[in-house]
Amino acid sequence: MTLIDARNMPRHVGIIMDGNGRWASQRDEPRSEGHRAGSRAVRRIVRLARRIGIEALTLYAFSFQNWARPEDEVSALMVLLQEYLLSEREDILGNGIRLAAVGELDQLPPEVRGVLEPLCRESQPNDRMTLTLALSYGGQEEIASAARALAKDYAEGRIALADIDAKALGERIPSQRVGEPDLIIRTGGETRLSNFLLFGSAYAELFFSDRLWPEFSDEDFFTAIASYQRRQRRFGQVVS
Ligand code: FPP
Repeated sequence: MTLIDARNMPRHVGIIMDGNGRWASQRDEPRSEGHRAGSRAVRRIVRLARRIGIEALTLYAFSFQNWARPEDEVSALMVLLQEYLLSEREDILGNGIRLAAVGELDQLPPEVRGVLEPLCRESQPNDRMTLTLALSYGGQEEIASAARALAKDYAEGRIALADIDAKALGERIPSQRVGEPDLIIRTGGETRLSNFLLFGSAYAELFFSDRLWPEFSDEDFFTAIASYQRRQRRFGQVVS
């Protein structure tokens, strides 16, 4: 914590939590065990983010493309998600966390939606930190769906052609409700965005860590924030 400057915190942090599978194979365990360890890391990092005053945390928990993984891995992830929501319910409601979800949520199994939707509703008045779970989420799919919404609004006379701009598109992108991410962290050693927050990441600072997600420590999170704080953000402009 001493590494970081409390006056220059990223307001919105997004995390691509990669490396669960490799963590499990290093231990000769099934991939589902890697995801279980990954969900423990989620609990830890969510608490830490809330404690240090991050206003919005968006976690890439399941991509639209992840549906193509083996059926048993997909079901294990859905069970873990449900367990997470059940076990964290009190923590979320009692600690001022507003839970939100973005992605093609109607594809989620009813057991997951059955715990996710009421918790999102009940935690809506909370305002200490917004925790958004990106589930069945794809950045391209989200932009396509916003484009469809714009086309419909145009066809039905709610928006003029001249008013269709980046702002109008952004207003129809659910992951933008908490604003653009200031910092995107990816664990697991790969240096790509993998369809995460594509619209909002235009000016996000990126931080890549070799650490596998289950091992991503509180100190690693501070290191990422300290790195963010050393950057000069210019948003395409000239800063003297
Ligand atoms: C990528 O690791 C991770 C995922 C596809 C799922 C992330 C899920 C969790 C962290 C746990 C459940 C989530 C919540 C919110 C409780 P990978 O499997 O692609 O790892 P690999 O690249 O090493 O194979």
